[in-house]
Amino acid sequence: MADILIEAYSLSRSYRQGGVPIGALASATFRLYAGDRVALIGRSGSGKSTLLHLMAGLDVPSSGTITWPALGPVETLLPKKISLVFQAPSLLEPMSVSENVALPLLLAKAPGDIDAAVAAALATFGLENLARKLPEELSGGQMQRVAMARAIVGNPSIILADEPTGQLDQPTGQALLDALIAHLDGSGAALVVATHDPSVAARMNAIWRIEHGVLVESADAPEVA
Ligand SMILES: Nc1ncnc2c1ncn2[C@@H]1O[C@H](COP(=O)(O)OP(=O)(O)OP(=O)(O)O)[C@@H](O)[C@H]1O
Ligand SMILES: [Mg+2]
Repeated sequence: MADILIEAYSLSRSYRQGGVPIGALASATFRLYAGDRVALIGRSGSGKSTLLHLMAGLDVPSSGTITWPALGPVETLLPKKISLVFQAPSLLEPMSVSENVALPLLLAKAPGDIDAAVAAALATFGLENLARKLPEELSGGQMQRVAMARAIVGNPSIILADEPTGQLDQPTGQALLDALIAHLDGSGAALVVATHDPSVAARMNAIWRIEHGVLVESADAPEVA
């Protein structure tokens, strides 16, 4: 039986707007196992990013519980055990591509050859020639791929990617997924990808659909919003 990486019961998150609570996620109960490949689909505003932020331990639920049984306490998760690739651009402007990709290793005080690990992560996505560039010199799609290199560099147990191909044409998006899946193959790492792209969802082995904050797990072929 694969390790349980995340276990959530009745997980809810609401935001206050003008004193009124607005429900973003309602009563989600699920498990994420080692090796899972999950597509998180649903219309804009349905709660995908909210759920990913809770899964990363970056946000706190309004009610319900979430634990990381095989990984440990919430304060130990980011960035060593879980990587979160944000929906919005998240590279640090004054730092080069290489320095950005090295960040999780530096924050986690990872042992070993950091330069070699960064070079390997960039090579995974064919980004070697961007190593010395600054984020402002990159296209939106190149930034997304660098953010993905940063997500894999420390070999985390979970990668949570929030619309990682949103700025990419379909062939480039598929190439990114091919490289990511090949990289993760056999590692036991779990991957959760929020996406509006049916071709991305089709590459995963489970589909989790969110409708107005309500999570419905299914393995059916997706109808992506
Ligand atoms: N910080 C916040 N403050 C108030 N409301 C928020 C906040 N973040 C999200 N929401 C609301 O919570 C709901 C879910 O938002 P979320 O970002 O999770 O949706 P999403 O499925 O990721 O959408 P998209 O596909 O557009 O990225 C939306 O109604 C949104 O307006
Ligand atoms: Mg979102």
